[in-house]
Amino acid sequence: MGKKIGIGLVGLLVLLQLVPYGCSHDNPAVKQEPAWDRPETRALAQRACFDCHSNETVWPWYSHVAPVRFLVAHHVEDGRKHLNFSEWDRPQKHAHEAAEEIEEGEMPMAGYVLLHGEADLSEAEKKQLMASFASMFGKDEHDEHDTPDAPDKTPPAPPGDDASDDVGHDHVDGEAPADDT
Ligand code: HEC
Repeated sequence: MGKKIGIGLVGLLVLLQLVPYGCSHDNPAVKQEPAWDRPETRALAQRACFDCHSNETVWPWYSHVAPVRFLVAHHVEDGRKHLNFSEWDRPQKHAHEAAEEIEEGEMPMAGYVLLHGEADLSEAEKKQLMASFASMFGKDEHDEHDTPDAPDKTPPAPPGDDASDDVGHDHVDGEAPADDT
């Protein structure tokens, strides 16, 4: 029984290898890099970002083995789409978010850092990289989206709703209650 499940699993893994997604491991030509402020910045970016955000991805052996292959291929594909340090000849509209992504601990991706010690930047290295990214690309100020809407003004109290004429004087004013029609 257990043996059969084991054979089944191995068979499944073998079959998975036949799914072609993520096999190409291609590194398209490097077209243009940003104007690095200094070589150290590039070196840091290369350590922490290039595998997913450049055309110089280093593909480890396990990136050839499904199902990890699917995950890695997807990260690289998606990462390059968002930001590609090798294709600075086209607009990189997320570049100004690079410093913020590091600051918030979003990038490099946590799972990646576990397997790539060299991408686990020290606090000093992170600070340096953030400062350089901010000076090279600007820092996300959330541009025009950030202006919060003015808080709603409280509408004026409807007339006739004044508590002061409600203190028990026994005059009756013949007003019928307002009738919203
Ligand atoms: C393991 C792959 C991987 C690594 C390493 C990595 N990223 Fe990413 N990055 C992604 C993926 C995938 C996306 C797109 C999905 C998302 O935004 O989470 C992304 C998105 C981004 C974005 C766009 C965010 C947005 O809101 O659209 C920026 C900026 C970014 N990464 C910067 C960096 C920087 C800077 C580094 C290095 C310090 C880095 N990334 C390292 C995979 C990676």
